[in-house]
Amino acid sequence: MKITIIGTGYVGLVTGACLAEIGNDVFCVDVDARKIEILNSGGVPIHEPGLQELIARNRAAGRIQFSTDVEASVAHGDIQFIAVGTPPDEDGSADLSHVLDAAYSIGKHMTGFKVVVDKSTVPVGTAQRVGEVIREQLDARGVAANFSIVSNPEFLKEGAAVDDFMRPDRIVIGCDDDRHGAKAREMIKRLYAPFNRNHERMLYMDVRSAEFTKYAANAMLATRISFMNEMANLADRVGADIEAVRRGIGSDPRIGYDFLYAGCGYGGSCFPKDVQALIRTAAESGQHLHILESVERVNEQQKQVLVGKIVKRLGEDLTGRRFAVWGLAFKPNTDDMRAASSRVLVAALLARGASVVAHDPVAMGEARRVFAIDFADQPEVLERLSYVDEPRQAVAGADALVIVTEWKAFKSPDFSYLKTQLKTPLIFDGRNLYDPPTLAEQGIEYYGIGRPEIA
Ligand code: UGA
Repeated sequence: MKITIIGTGYVGLVTGACLAEIGNDVFCVDVDARKIEILNSGGVPIHEPGLQELIARNRAAGRIQFSTDVEASVAHGDIQFIAVGTPPDEDGSADLSHVLDAAYSIGKHMTGFKVVVDKSTVPVGTAQRVGEVIREQLDARGVAANFSIVSNPEFLKEGAAVDDFMRPDRIVIGCDDDRHGAKAREMIKRLYAPFNRNHERMLYMDVRSAEFTKYAANAMLATRISFMNEMANLADRVGADIEAVRRGIGSDPRIGYDFLYAGCGYGGSCFPKDVQALIRTAAESGQHLHILESVERVNEQQKQVLVGKIVKRLGEDLTGRRFAVWGLAFKPNTDDMRAASSRVLVAALLARGASVVAHDPVAMGEARRVFAIDFADQPEVLERLSYVDEPRQAVAGADALVIVTEWKAFKSPDFSYLKTQLKTPLIFDGRNLYDPPTLAEQGIEYYGIGRPEIA
């Protein structure tokens, strides 16, 4: 099938590459000429395991192309995917300007029937607005072409995006209940049929419910994390081990094991943004989302939890102290620093006079960029943040090691070596990577999240 993907961010690129892989003819368009240039010279503007190879293979086979030519992109695809960003507005609601720009371009150039698929995460009611923008343009041009809007939210996780797309748990498809909607539904059904594997993955529903499903899913997952973080903080106080509690409750199939890991807070481009956007949507319709407001508040506090433990152990004034920080990305297998807990931690340590030596396997370039922005008006403070290529180099002479992201490379370090390198054998672990008794045996003082302190 002939497919157009508007937007070459995470969702757009992964969608385009995976749809090309199963044999479709994919045209990816972006207004950002720099991104298109990178893609056309064989690069990929984001770090995502497996994506570069997938794109290279499909480019070589002539199944995927990249362009800034909007008119050509509209002409190409019978199905037009809108996969552009929906960043938060100042008040937390989703900024739909890119989505509506895409709708405008489609309406301005289309001549025959198109299925327009909203893949961006958009508030309930956006499909209707997209349809209105397209209709306005068609009317202005006096063109009588038809179209149907489908909501098909994406549930992929960064770092596992290609696999999530290729082997989905479910494919949510919201269609209109009219003649064009039925035609759109048939086309989308055919497009996604190869992903069904051993049983039907497609869930059909009305457009508004599909739009809502995406927000409700992320809100539920964020709620589980904030719940566990709150339980972990209580475990700290009452001397229980949140890891044992996690196993104890996860074994109940009604609860399940996934997304119950306590830590130093969730980050990324989705949970913080989508929780806020849902709170805004509710407020606009006169409803207070009490649970989600708490989820967000608990997460903001949780990003400070390591700082609290460090200050409790070493005192408020950290002048002259040096901290090794392992992990800067908001989670492993990505270089994404958006809303990363490391940003809060590093800022708090620097503000208390400490210096920080950081290492991340892939996010250091991105970290340099975002910290330069975060500290644009405090260059003298930023001087106390440095980066090293190897985790080992960070710990040499440090007062403590702080772990923020659970990269595999950090999971089983040589503790006796660490002990010889650290000025004081002290580890603050924001992702509960290690076993407290093992560290106690090694003579390392260890502070996890909701883990018992073993002297
Ligand atoms: C999330 C959802 O998991 C995807 O299903 C969704 O498609 C995506 O948002 C989106 O809306 O586009 P993502 O933001 O890539 O995916 O990352 P997650 O793996 O969900 O992790 C989010 C954050 O939660 C990370 O900071 C992670 O460290 C934290 N987390 C996750 C925990 O603190 N504990 C857990 O048990 C799980």
